Amino acid sequence: MAGRFEGRVAMVTGAGSGIGRATALALAREGARLLLFDRSAVGLAGTATQCPHAEAVTGDVTKAEDLEAAAAACAARFGPADLLVTAAGILGPALPPELLEEAEWNQLFDVNVKGTWLTIRAMLPQLREAGRSAIVTFASTAGLAGSATLPAYSASKGAVVMLTRSLALVHAAEGIRVNAVCPGSIETPMLEATFASAGDELAQAARQAAFRARHPMQRFGQADEVAETVLFLLSDAAAFITGVALPVDGGRLA
Ligand SMILES: NC(=O)c1ccc[n+]([C@@H]2O[C@H](COP(=O)([O-])OP(=O)(O)OC[C@H]3O[C@@H](n4cnc5c(N)ncnc54)[C@H](O)[C@@H]3O)[C@@H](O)[C@H]2O)c1
Repeated sequence: MAGRFEGRVAMVTGAGSGIGRATALALAREGARLLLFDRSAVGLAGTATQCPHAEAVTGDVTKAEDLEAAAAACAARFGPADLLVTAAGILGPALPPELLEEAEWNQLFDVNVKGTWLTIRAMLPQLREAGRSAIVTFASTAGLAGSATLPAYSASKGAVVMLTRSLALVHAAEGIRVNAVCPGSIETPMLEATFASAGDELAQAARQAAFRARHPMQRFGQADEVAETVLFLLSDAAAFITGVALPVDGGRLA
């Protein structure tokens, strides 16, 4: 499968860690040139050094001006992007919504929902210009089923699912496909943070065991396994697929 993305230009947000990084590295291995975007300069540098043709732009997906700068940097270095992956996201506190501060709720929706919209909006002129384009957004199994542990996060990822499906309809006729991946629990720094926030060691172990048990395969997923699904949805093998929210979850939602 080497070289599936030769000649293609991809922007990946959240490229400084976890699944975004794994997706960027997989695209680079298959020949894509990359605009890497993340709020963490250190994380971005760690990814960029492993990609032969990459431009790294540090910025915040909640800021339209940062995304416009990234879009301009991409076009200047590589020409218009025809692939977009919006992996930047946050988990927020694992609390019932009644205990959340308003600022915490706003931040969660700003990053996960508004950030996805702003990123797509900034890149749309390039995706349109390229003609044959694909977007993969990041929802979650928590965007398809409710979550007692992370209810506000679940609501934000549900919004990403419906944004994705709606944009698939809006852009289908112009050749821009829009799909979402819905990972189950994947071993990344984000998942580690969920466990760490459970409390003492016993509580952390209990949350870890409970999360693992939700997956019929009785294990957590790996970032590379989600990245492979993202590459499939971006690729011509998925040419007639748009508007899906695809679980990558070891059978959790089966
Ligand atoms: N790990 C899981 O179990 C899991 C499950 C379901 C969905 N997801 C989703 O997958 C995506 C990637 O998650 P991950 O596990 O790799 O997390 P991660 O924390 O390892 O990586 C997320 C990256 O997004 C970046 N980021 C966060 N806020 C940003 C902002 N405002 N602007 C720019 N960059 C920002 C972070 O700096 C980080 O590099 C997220 O959208 C997450 O919600 C993860």
